[in-house]
Amino acid sequence: MGTPLPLSPPKIQSDRSEALERPSPSLSVAGRRWPSAAKAGARCGGVLKLTAMSQAPDQARWTAVDTYITDLLVPPDPALAAALDDSVAAGLPGIQVTPNLGKMLHLLARIQGARRILEIGTLGGYSAIWLARALPADGRLITLEFAPKHAEVARANVARAGLQDKVDIRVGRALDTLPRLAAEGGEPFDFFFIDADKESNPDYFQWALKLSRPGSVIVIDNVVREGAVIDADNTHPMLEGVRRLNRLMAGEPRVSVTELQTVGSKGYDGFALALVTA
Ligand code: SAH
Ligand code: DHB
Ligand code: MG
Repeated sequence: MGTPLPLSPPKIQSDRSEALERPSPSLSVAGRRWPSAAKAGARCGGVLKLTAMSQAPDQARWTAVDTYITDLLVPPDPALAAALDDSVAAGLPGIQVTPNLGKMLHLLARIQGARRILEIGTLGGYSAIWLARALPADGRLITLEFAPKHAEVARANVARAGLQDKVDIRVGRALDTLPRLAAEGGEPFDFFFIDADKESNPDYFQWALKLSRPGSVIVIDNVVREGAVIDADNTHPMLEGVRRLNRLMAGEPRVSVTELQTVGSKGYDGFALALVTA
């Protein structure tokens, strides 16, 4: 196998020892800029900064590894690339799932054998395209979006991906469109992706349960938020929504749930994975 390579080049080791010198991630970073992350153009978790960790020195590395993984395992895709380009051009925030998480959603939906998928939070349709591509020919994805402009961009992106017959984008506040969807009395959904306003996560989870069947899968994005979920003194409504969701899921006997922390080009966050068991 040839000469073993050192695990970390010296430059990175010095970055990491700098990180280790910090007394705690939440205490030390305020006001400080981390040149390595800034140079890499790190997004640091998107629009909303919840903790001082936003420009932690490891961001450049997380981004580089996401690039490495994606270059190897997520082949270039014209429809997905164009969806991102047009979302940027239309001024949409770049808060869609990363390519590798998009592919994971796709694989989870395929593993599950999903025929009916419900997404809450469409944005430009990036995750919707990944999920809709997991569907069989007669499968359907319904995706709920509040902002008409986002829905319009998503519609064009979905059409370019050739998925317009599988994807139904419904515009409005999800808490308004969900009761209408329920009133239609369609078949239960096999797979849910909850990724809209985090304040409403507890309600979205309860709607998902209502629209599910035993065996349905529920994935919820952004449940860690740079670790701020455990900062009791940070009462941002987004975090309170995630905490209420977590307590709700913990006490709900009809689901089995876990959560994973993730790092990557979107910073430090995590997602919940729930199986409806009864
Ligand atoms: N799932 C997308 C990203 C969604 S971003 C992807 O990974 O590609 C969150 C989206 O939720 C935004 O487009 C936002 O407009 C939408 N949103 C926010 N509040 C909402 C609400 N109350 N009802 C429906 N959509 C909402
Ligand atoms: C952000 C990221 C998300 O995945 C999301 O759904 C909403 C906001 C962000 O980083 O701000
Ligand atoms: Mg998200």
